[in-house]
Amino acid sequence: MNLRDYLHSCYISEDLTSVIMSILKAGKEISEKIKNVDIGTAGTENIYGEEQMALDVLSDKIFQQELKSNRNVGLIASEELHDEIKIGDGNYAVCYDPLDGSSLIDTNLSVGSIFSIYESSSFIGVAGKDQLVAGFIVYGPRLTLIISVSHGTIECSYKDNEWLVTKDNLIVSEGKMFAPGNLRIISERDDYMKLMEFWMKNGYTLRYSGGMVPDINQIFLKGKGIFIYPGCPSKPEGKLRLLFECAPMAFLMEQAKGIATDGNARILDKVIQSIDQKSPIYLGSIEEVKRVQTYLS
Ligand code: AHG
Ligand code: MN
Ligand code: MN
Repeated sequence: MNLRDYLHSCYISEDLTSVIMSILKAGKEISEKIKNVDIGTAGTENIYGEEQMALDVLSDKIFQQELKSNRNVGLIASEELHDEIKIGDGNYAVCYDPLDGSSLIDTNLSVGSIFSIYESSSFIGVAGKDQLVAGFIVYGPRLTLIISVSHGTIECSYKDNEWLVTKDNLIVSEGKMFAPGNLRIISERDDYMKLMEFWMKNGYTLRYSGGMVPDINQIFLKGKGIFIYPGCPSKPEGKLRLLFECAPMAFLMEQAKGIATDGNARILDKVIQSIDQKSPIYLGSIEEVKRVQTYLS
């Protein structure tokens, strides 16, 4: 089945389908650019004080271009922009991380794009649970997509010029695999050290690339595991962005029967107070997330 037929079978409107297709068109274009253009830095910084890669800036432009040419989109926000931008009168609001893992570009590891679609005139005041659609594209040896329109989470693959559903109904259940982000804070957090000891002494498999997209993608495909990116006393909210990274990943995870919390609250209940808001995140199978919450209280 192709993605269009799948969306039709979920009663997704033509307008919303067209927004999804615009995002995927941007993704296809970015996948070509990754192979062919400059992989160096752009010489600029984003609002988080991070050095932008030339491909961060280009990927953002490609997203903007595709979304601006879709009359159903009224608002956009990007990890690489300073604020949300009203671009038209359409009902849909699209936010995105145009290139996740861009610091890995030079190493030729997989990178991705993460996106969410809401129906709102501002992202301020929305919560992750208001998402209509969430997804991410993986630029790896294959071009793949993980997406949810609130009917479970599926995987699609780009083949012969179209997106085909390659795995429907992805489920994340218990299993011994862990992706421990921000490990360098262990010097500030003994509890994180104890959690690592638990995983290592109990035969868990370490799977961590440093890119949120591939690190979480494998959890969906293997059907087990956990990804965490905790904060620390000097940086309590960690690094990952609630609107652009945590909320879409949490939506996809809950639709696959896993959970996602910040240690106290469900990620999808957290209300966006500023576009650049960050949050710690523990995301994966139910029991494993609960274990992390017990260790990292
Ligand atoms: P981005 O490339 O969009 O800035 O995001 C990178 C993120 C995420 O992909 C990953 O989980 C995390 O940064 C890793 O960060 P550190 O290596 O700094 O811990
Ligand atoms: Mn990112
Ligand atoms: Mn990014």
